[in-house]
Amino acid sequence: MSIAVLAGDGIGKEVVPAAIACVDAALARHGSRVDWVDYDWGSDLYLKTGRMMPVDGIETLARHEAIFLGAVGLPEIPDTETLWGLLIPIRREFRQYINLRPIRALDGVPSPVAGGDDIDVVLVRENNEGEYSEIGGRSYRGRPEEEAIQVNVFTRHGIERVARYAVGLAESRGGRLTSATKSNGIIHTMPFWDEVVAEAAAAAPGVALESILIDALAARLVLDPGRFDVIVASNLFGDILSDLAGAIAGSIGVAPSANLNPERQFPSLFEPVHGSAPDIAGRGVANPIGAIWTGALMLDHLGHTAAADDLTTAFRAVTKAGVRTADLGGTATTDQVSAAIVAELAR
Ligand code: NAI
Ligand code: MG
Repeated sequence: MSIAVLAGDGIGKEVVPAAIACVDAALARHGSRVDWVDYDWGSDLYLKTGRMMPVDGIETLARHEAIFLGAVGLPEIPDTETLWGLLIPIRREFRQYINLRPIRALDGVPSPVAGGDDIDVVLVRENNEGEYSEIGGRSYRGRPEEEAIQVNVFTRHGIERVARYAVGLAESRGGRLTSATKSNGIIHTMPFWDEVVAEAAAAAPGVALESILIDALAARLVLDPGRFDVIVASNLFGDILSDLAGAIAGSIGVAPSANLNPERQFPSLFEPVHGSAPDIAGRGVANPIGAIWTGALMLDHLGHTAAADDLTTAFRAVTKAGVRTADLGGTATTDQVSAAIVAELAR
């Protein structure tokens, strides 16, 4: 099995090797291994060639079973270039229409909000359409009448597939599905979203669906994080909610994510939620747990379920034991956290 590695920029280059060591250690317990193939794409390549990845980048990645990404983004380059030059084309070309973000409190990682230690949510974010569209334009640049128009794109097919995935996930968990909406203010796309999600949920009698306006949902997540199970949301709402839920769980540095092509027609992409964190990059202090947890999601997707479970148990034990990076109030380095997890897996 071969995995394309895109460590990317900033702390991506630090957390990715840390995570690979842990994934290898988990696989070794089961006599398995994977091949990691490095690609030095990202902002360095952009500064040299004006491209985040080579012209045939997508074809190259298509030859792998999965893609493991750190983060991309450099203060000197506009984020639109780094994001639309690499991550968004990969998500779309490979029909990774599910962005899965499990958020669960970890022992030893205090939540900043009351009740935050009870959070155990899976956020299912639509990843291919919605508010992140290329349709629109900008006119009269620099003039008083300057205007920008960005068109939201919601299709029945797009909503149906993400809704069905979320309903299936809710069935396999607590049976509670929350849909983020804004049908009071966004009067065309959001009522459509509500209808299609409701149809998908109606097909599963064991699933109770609740649609909540995104603003109220944000407040309720903070006030009562323990009441949510599976949340399905559009591209933009899901992006915002997942950072919020990640913060409730303690730190963005521990949050994992998977960009899934559930049909497995194309490789899926696995990446921590956090970005390249230029403010702490190069110091070896980034929290690798988000990337390591992401590695567990990848192992699970690739069918290495036992190794995935071992890896999860190991990083939870190490965090609980107090081996923590600075964002969690500890003094451990990235490599020390990784080494502690590898040692735990070798026991
Ligand atoms: P960020 O996630 O990089 O950083 C936000 C804050 O969280 C910073 O203070 C950072 O130090 C801290 N942080 C993040 N990850 C951490 C970790 N593992 N351990 C400890 N602290 C951590 O988000 P920001 O600052 O908005 O974006 C920085 C760059 O990353 C931008 O260029 C942005 O476009 C890019 N980005 C890329 C993403 C990706 O490649 N998927 C996702 C999010 C942002
Ligand atoms: Mg985000």
